[in-house]
Amino acid sequence: MDWRDESSRAGMRITLDYNSITSGFIGKNGISKEEIDALLPRAREVHESLARGRNDEAHPFFNLPYQDTSLIKLLADDIAKWAENFVLLGIGGSALGPIALHTALRHPYHNLLSRRGRGKRPRMFFMDNVDPDAFGSLLAELNPEKTIFCVVTKSGGTAETMAQFMVVRALMQKALGKRKLKKHFVCITDPEKGNLRKIVQSERFTSLEVPPGVGGRFSVFTPVGLLPAAVSGIDIDELLAGAADMDKRTSEQNSLENPAHMTAMLQYLADKKGRHISVMMPYSSALRDIADWYRQIWAESLGKKLDLKGNIVHTGQTPVKALGTTDQHSQVQLYMEGPNDKTFIFLRVESFQRELPIPKIYKDIDGIAYLGGHTMAELINAEQAATEAALAGAGRPSMTIRIPEVRPFTVGQVLYLLEVTTAIAGGLYGIDPFDQPGVEEGKLLTYAMMGRPGFEGKRAELEKQKRRPEYVI
Ligand code: PA5
Repeated sequence: MDWRDESSRAGMRITLDYNSITSGFIGKNGISKEEIDALLPRAREVHESLARGRNDEAHPFFNLPYQDTSLIKLLADDIAKWAENFVLLGIGGSALGPIALHTALRHPYHNLLSRRGRGKRPRMFFMDNVDPDAFGSLLAELNPEKTIFCVVTKSGGTAETMAQFMVVRALMQKALGKRKLKKHFVCITDPEKGNLRKIVQSERFTSLEVPPGVGGRFSVFTPVGLLPAAVSGIDIDELLAGAADMDKRTSEQNSLENPAHMTAMLQYLADKKGRHISVMMPYSSALRDIADWYRQIWAESLGKKLDLKGNIVHTGQTPVKALGTTDQHSQVQLYMEGPNDKTFIFLRVESFQRELPIPKIYKDIDGIAYLGGHTMAELINAEQAATEAALAGAGRPSMTIRIPEVRPFTVGQVLYLLEVTTAIAGGLYGIDPFDQPGVEEGKLLTYAMMGRPGFEGKRAELEKQKRRPEYVI
């Protein structure tokens, strides 16, 4: 399919169905037309301020859909020629985007397939924790000769990622010798700053850049997301074409025609009316890690103590991920009858890669015979519609992002939509969605605990806390 051609795009556009969050559909717990209208001037101001930030490059993530990907593809193809294992080392925004793309767009059992079945691409591993058992167990299984490590850290100093890198570097040097190391590392980090950049320069590792001004959670369309995706065989140009297509729609000034404005405004209004939890519930296993990625971008961008004027505001909805239909049998009882403090965003796939017909057997058992003749695709979508309807009936607000098919073009639209939605929501709350002072504090305390020079003051603070009476049973 040619994504420059308007007719191929038209049928692959995602849509936002927000009927079930409106008061017209669910009654007084929903959002009324008057509430939306009253917020329109504010949304317009936020839109204009972000557009100015886009033009003066304060928000470079807006322009990522239009980048040249040739270097990334070249490097990815080179890696795929020899590597059997591609291991990403990174955390937070340096891992969640790559994971979401991989789960959405590659075979669900990619690593179990033969090399041919994987399209001659490496097995993919995403190590986003410093659990010694999980990490050590993986390292013990990999053939160093056939493995490449992709070290991703924008700051170049995150303790977890740098510790992983140091462990791996020592192991690889022991296994292969210093001379062969270079081939087995590719680093993605700031073009100039940070310790990883220093290491790249001194050891001449291959590297790609995270553009300055693009925060981790907005980095899925930089080499952070694109290199691993290209290595595993995802069409990154189609992905970016989807993001670019959504960019046109989210550049629309009229909020009522702009899916990012509407998603942000409705979530914001719902929060103001006591819906302090935002549940994202994909009805598709492939999209489950998009909910994980959303959890980070929504939490880290909007969970803020201070507004732009310095007032204490403590903003932010708590994002929760759920998976349909699995979590119908785990969470939906609470969603239906527990506190009415949630909004729901369903991700619904209109056409799956496989239909999987349910055979017409057990015709004499009424309780299951009705399933025969349908498909699993029908069943999962019937369950999504039923859950939405049941929640609406109980006065519980939801929206549905309808996705024609899971493919790079549509996934690009979804991720870009949610990035812009987050930026707009930040403006509505009057906070800075692009910083993360709360995460930084935890990082500084970790440095102090691990004895990093320059953090003695923080260490003393921690010691003082330790002297508190302890209640441990
Ligand atoms: O979104 C963010 O900014 C954070 O989640 C970071 O991605 C995370 O803390 C990792 O940082 P870094 O990429 O600098 O290692």
